Amino acid sequence: MNFGVIGSGMVGQQLAAGLVRLGHGAMIGTRDPAKLEAFVRTYPGVRAASNAEAAAFGELVLLATKWEGTREALHLAGRENLEGKVVVDITNPLDFSEGKPALALGFSTSGGEQVQGWLPGARVVKALNSVTAGAMLDPRGFTGGEPDMFIAGNDAGAKADVTRLLESVGWGVVDLGDITQSRLLEPLALIWITHALNSGWTKNDHAFKLLNR
Ligand SMILES: NC(=O)c1ccc[n+]([C@@H]2O[C@H](COP(=O)([O-])OP(=O)(O)OC[C@H]3O[C@@H](n4cnc5c(N)ncnc54)[C@H](OP(=O)(O)O)[C@@H]3O)[C@@H](O)[C@H]2O)c1
Repeated sequence: MNFGVIGSGMVGQQLAAGLVRLGHGAMIGTRDPAKLEAFVRTYPGVRAASNAEAAAFGELVLLATKWEGTREALHLAGRENLEGKVVVDITNPLDFSEGKPALALGFSTSGGEQVQGWLPGARVVKALNSVTAGAMLDPRGFTGGEPDMFIAGNDAGAKADVTRLLESVGWGVVDLGDITQSRLLEPLALIWITHALNSGWTKNDHAFKLLNR
């Protein structure tokens, strides 16, 4: 399957490399493909292009941009290139202005809802935002067994596609409901980040699991 990855930071690079390792096609979108020259040399299956080309290439698109630049990155990607597609929103609307991590929004809206609002024709699924980049496509090896990924979105078919992808690499999946539940998923990222900060980032490879009895 061909994946478009909008975002060329640590998350975008880890996802693209992981997707190619899994046998998929991956194209990273960026405003400056030249800065990824060394990266694509290291991972020859990955292509670097504009946000619009990556969005058009992807049968499924992963969104991994800095929150403040997300609206602009999606504008560059082009709504028409994302129409009808599953867009996995991995972003977190983080605000570090007070010195410690907080969310820039979250009570009456969320990043996930804003992304869906900016892309009314796309099928947005919030997922993968509460775990470190390197574990997103490789969640094996956690103590306590298979971790769970919480997801949210309005489109059942889109969530089924994302669930298949996540389960295929080893996640359990917990569907929390429509895209407004991003208001719950985004604070999970703060728990993840705060625990890493409290441990001096020595515990930055942790994930969540929902336990039932
Ligand atoms: N790091 C993690 O382990 C982790 C885990 C879970 C979720 N997340 C979330 O994933 C997202 C990506 O994180 P990251 O650490 O990989 O990268 P990042 O540094 O937060 O974001 C880098 C990307 O944002 C784009 N960007 C920044 N400002 C822009 C603007 N004004 N217009 C258009 N694009 C802009 C950059 O585009 P160009 O390439 O065009 O410069 C680049 O692709 C964030 O929202 C983060 O909260 C991160």
